[in-house]
Order: sequence, then structure tokens, then C-alpha cells
Amino acid sequence: MRVLVFRNIPAAASTVAEHVVAQVRRRPGCVLGLAAGRTMIPVYEAVVRRLRREAVSLRQARAFALDEVLGVAPDDARSMIGFIERHFLRHTDLPVQRWETPDACSAQPEAECARYEERIRAAGGIDLQLLGIGRNGHIGFNEPGCSLAGRTAIEALACSTRKDGGGPARALTMGVGTILESRECLLVAFGTSKAEAIAEAVEGPVASRCPASALQLHPAASVVLDEEAAGRLEHRDRCC
Ligand code: GLP
Repeated sequence: MRVLVFRNIPAAASTVAEHVVAQVRRRPGCVLGLAAGRTMIPVYEAVVRRLRREAVSLRQARAFALDEVLGVAPDDARSMIGFIERHFLRHTDLPVQRWETPDACSAQPEAECARYEERIRAAGGIDLQLLGIGRNGHIGFNEPGCSLAGRTAIEALACSTRKDGGGPARALTMGVGTILESRECLLVAFGTSKAEAIAEAVEGPVASRCPASALQLHPAASVVLDEEAAGRLEHRDRCC
């Protein structure tokens, strides 16, 4: 796991953007995994700025949303894909038919989870997965106690997640196993509220009590932090 600590959020966001745009340059048809959450706002802004500045197009790329709140339509204020669309997709030239999200309003949500996995597989797998982290160490909506080999499934949300996210109870989420299969992962965290979860994810044991710790087993995972989110790490010498 590579840990990169930056003096502020703009510097961190700009490095993530550099990385995303380099990936698209290398492989214009790449598959991106996209997360929602406040952390991603400055990141997506930086990616959009850099795509424009370098005149890099997402026309041939594909994108998959990491998760969606169960029973919530994309135009609902609580929707993850709605968030990603507002903060990122609508500012890019990625064609609407080339990004996908699990259908959280499906009458058969379990079958929808299996279909979503299949769609990711059919696209050739995710090249670059962007992730935030919950205060309790969750990634996607994989909460403490989840299977670290799990596939896309319906998960009940922890109390702290429900409070942070305005109350939804269940969500469709890529599993930790799905996330671990992405070719590269970038986990981004800012602020003191994430410091404990980051210390546990980076330096704690690989354990289901902190789902993000599973990224220690990923061959190409980077953790991008500001000083505050890195504040509880013991081994700062590994950081740049
Ligand atoms: C939600 C999302 C996660 C995200 C997390 C952190 O729970 N499902 O994917 O990482 O929020 O959100 P924020 O960046 O707003 O702290």
C-alpha cells in the first residue's frame, strides 16, 4: 500500500487528478470505478479541470458507480449516481450510455447485484477504482463485519453511516472482493474525522472490523491523504 500525504486538499486532489488523466491517456477505453461522498468533490473538480486543460476525452472510457442506496432513483437527492453525475459526469464528455450504476429500484435487487457484477466483468473489469472511506472504515457500503471476499450485494448500513448520509438503511454496493479485483485503487481521505479509520486501514490488521484494511492485500492500492487524515499514522516515514 502506498501512502501519500499532502499538505492540503488541493494538492492531494490534483495528484489524484493527474493519476486519473494519465490512466485515460494510456488507455482511452479504460474502465473507471467512481465513488460518491463529500471527499470526492474536490477530486472530481480537479479531474474535470485537468481533462479540460490537457484536452483529454472520456468518450471511449466506461464508468461504474461503486454503490447506490436501495430504493433510491438517480434523481433523488440521496442517490450516489446522482451525486457523481452532478459533480463529475455532466462536466465531462463520457457518453451517458457508457456509465452504469446498479438499479437500486429493481424489483429483484439480488438479481440486480449479480447482473451488475456481470456488467463489470463484461467490460473487462475496473482499471482504476476511486474510493472514499467512512469514519468506521467502510468502503463503498461495506460496513465493519462484512465479508472481505464479498461480491456486489445488498448491505445494511451502520448507524454512523446512516447519520452521515441522511438516514438510508440499505444499499447495493460492490463487495470488498469486487473492489480488490480492480487493477488499481485510490483511496482518498481528508480531515481529522477520518484519521482513526485511516490508521486502522493502513497500519491495523487486515480485518473485517475495518473493511478498508483489505486494501493492504491489493497489489496496487494507494492512499491519498491530507495532513489531518494522516494525523494518527505511526509510520509517517513511509509517506512522501
Ligand atoms: C458513503 C459512500 C462511500 C464514501 C463515504 C464517505 O458512505 N458510500 O463510498 O466513501 O460515504 O463519504 P464522505 O466522503 O462524504 O465522507
